[in-house]
Amino acid sequence: DWTTGNIVEEQVERIREQVGTGRAICGLSGGVDSAVAAALVQRAIGDQLTCVFVNHGLLREGEAEQVERDFVAATGAKLHIADERERFMNALAGVTDPETKRKIIGREFIRAFEASEAAIMADAAAEGDKVKFLVQGTLYPDVVESGGGEGAANIKSHHNVGGLPEDLQFELVEPLRALFKDEVRSVGAQLGLPAEIVQRQPFPGPGLGIRIIGEVTEERLELLRKADAIARAELTAAGLDREVWQMPVVLLADVRSVGVQGDGRTYGHPIVLRPVSSEDAMTADWSRLPYELLARISNRITNEVDGVNRVVLDVTSKPPGTIEWE
Ligand code: XMP
Repeated sequence: DWTTGNIVEEQVERIREQVGTGRAICGLSGGVDSAVAAALVQRAIGDQLTCVFVNHGLLREGEAEQVERDFVAATGAKLHIADERERFMNALAGVTDPETKRKIIGREFIRAFEASEAAIMADAAAEGDKVKFLVQGTLYPDVVESGGGEGAANIKSHHNVGGLPEDLQFELVEPLRALFKDEVRSVGAQLGLPAEIVQRQPFPGPGLGIRIIGEVTEERLELLRKADAIARAELTAAGLDREVWQMPVVLLADVRSVGVQGDGRTYGHPIVLRPVSSEDAMTADWSRLPYELLARISNRITNEVDGVNRVVLDVTSKPPGTIEWE
């Protein structure tokens, strides 16, 4: 029967057969799919695998640490970290158009990954070896979808930062190709990955870069990270992580409104909460979160995050609104 234990054993066997004594690389995005794919391949071939994490500086609080520390602790994988925060900040300076942001982030990501790839290949070559395999966390629904092309669904340019262009110099290793998301999560749990990685809700490849409406700056990222961490912590504390598909937290960086805090007048930014329920992200409804939870999130964000004096709730379904604001 098709149990998680069988999936792991079977895939480990297959990966060993495919890769033999060769070397492989795998990009980690912080998301579930790339982490589970990498953990499976690590289980199969150990140090023949090098994982690459490009830190673009657009992840949420704690997420870079989850890859750099927790993933490594759980799997023992060899990890190459590329701190590319400056590259991305420079490339995004002055940019406000959503599609342009997405394209820049996608382009810089590929460049950064290729630079790491080149360094790893040079190391391997120095040891008389070649890197022949690229691991990707492609799932069954991705396989089906790409057969049909993006078509009408292509409303925003989409990058999955874990997934990379098919580079013809590599042979692909795709151990999750037959699996659905829930199966991937149980494989991840079986491989000992922490719940924060395995149960993570969907998060876009371009990260917080498309959740700041306006130019992306270091200060704005800092502010949004704090607001987002509060909203996520409260959602988790209320036990609603499973019920809510995802809850983007968005900073309206170019909007300011008047507030009163303490004895003074403030002129601060609004934070938008965008909790949605969905089956597949193609359509979505706004989540009817309990008022007490919304009140707690609002109080905490306005009290704890400097520069924010208003929290608003997005009550739009998809369509007409997309889940992300950009
Ligand atoms: P929208 O905003 O189009 O989002 O309703 C649908 C789902 O896709 C996620 N999303 C992305 N995921 N790369 C990703 O891997 C992206 O560029 C990207 N853009 C949006 C979004 O969070 C939602 O789950």
